[in-house]
Amino acid sequence: MKRVFSGVKPTGHLTLGNYLGALRGWAEADQYETDALFCIVDLHALTVEHDPARVRRLSMQAATLFLACGLDPEVCTVFVQSHVSEHARLSYLLECTATDGEMRRMIQYKEKAALEQERGGSVRLSLLTYPVLMAADILAYGTDEVPVGDDQAQHVELARDLAVRFNQRYGPTFVMPRATHPGVAARVMDLQDPTSKMGKTQASGAGIVYLLDEPEAVRKKVLRAVTDSGRDVVHDRAAKPGVSNLLEILSSCTDGNPEALAGVYESYGALKKDTAEAVVELLRPVQARHKELCADPGYVEGVLMRGAERARAMAQPRVDAAHQAMGLLSPGGSID
Ligand code: TYM
Repeated sequence: MKRVFSGVKPTGHLTLGNYLGALRGWAEADQYETDALFCIVDLHALTVEHDPARVRRLSMQAATLFLACGLDPEVCTVFVQSHVSEHARLSYLLECTATDGEMRRMIQYKEKAALEQERGGSVRLSLLTYPVLMAADILAYGTDEVPVGDDQAQHVELARDLAVRFNQRYGPTFVMPRATHPGVAARVMDLQDPTSKMGKTQASGAGIVYLLDEPEAVRKKVLRAVTDSGRDVVHDRAAKPGVSNLLEILSSCTDGNPEALAGVYESYGALKKDTAEAVVELLRPVQARHKELCADPGYVEGVLMRGAERARAMAQPRVDAAHQAMGLLSPGGSID
């Protein structure tokens, strides 16, 4: 059976982008069709200025939302990255496989490092090596597919490059992963700035729909979305980024097609109204289930504990093999 791995980093409240670009597909298809692991990648949250208590809260919230979105711990493995030391262990080995130049070319590094500097902060070394840790997340499990939004494509590409290089130098150890993306809404854009991605850590929340936003807040944000000049409703990301974003969100919520939906609307107002209602309806069951789960944090903690045990058992043999392949002695073990 195909092995799938994906994750979310707890750096902010989960957004509609996270849901449409990743989580929804995990819950609706991946978990049933593959041997899947879904991870709260908390080590990644330490690569930028962070408040420890907030990271803890957001990690627990993300885990609760994973389950609220429909991940079933009976059919997939849900866990927290830092509970499985194989991730950090393999990351170091892959740092010895990657190059400095490769890291500096990563688009997300360039963007985030510039942002940190703009804010007057310093850039953590771990921000530079972040994609190596992400490669370790993926490669440790012999992952075939990584279902992600399209902003993660370059990182998955790096994981492939490192797998090839490692296998060539040290012998076949890693499986070649590939990124998969949803057909629509692989990059949901900010409602106030439809040329940038809707991200959890954006400075202003006005263009971001959070999964736990009240229906009224969702309606307000969608109805106030920035649209484009002209009046025609057409799906054209370059010429009409605002309208195209709304069409994609609506299509994703209703299993429609953005081009076909464009023909249905004669005004931006009507499109916004229907999009707002579709998002509210999509989030309603997730929010209801989240509320129930919050009443039982012990259950969520239990899921994470069992998930980490399962994940560790899956990762350990391959990470041990990578250690040995690179020339490290196994503890108390023989030389070959
Ligand atoms: P993160 O936490 O930024 O996002 C989690 C998932 O949500 C997707 N996503 C979006 N999709 C569509 N539109 C958007 N606006 C949008 N915003 C986010 C992301 O593509 C991602 O699938 N580096 C990763 C976390 C990670 C990971 C991994 C993922 C660490 N290790 C291993 C897969 C496999 C990240 O920052 O995702």
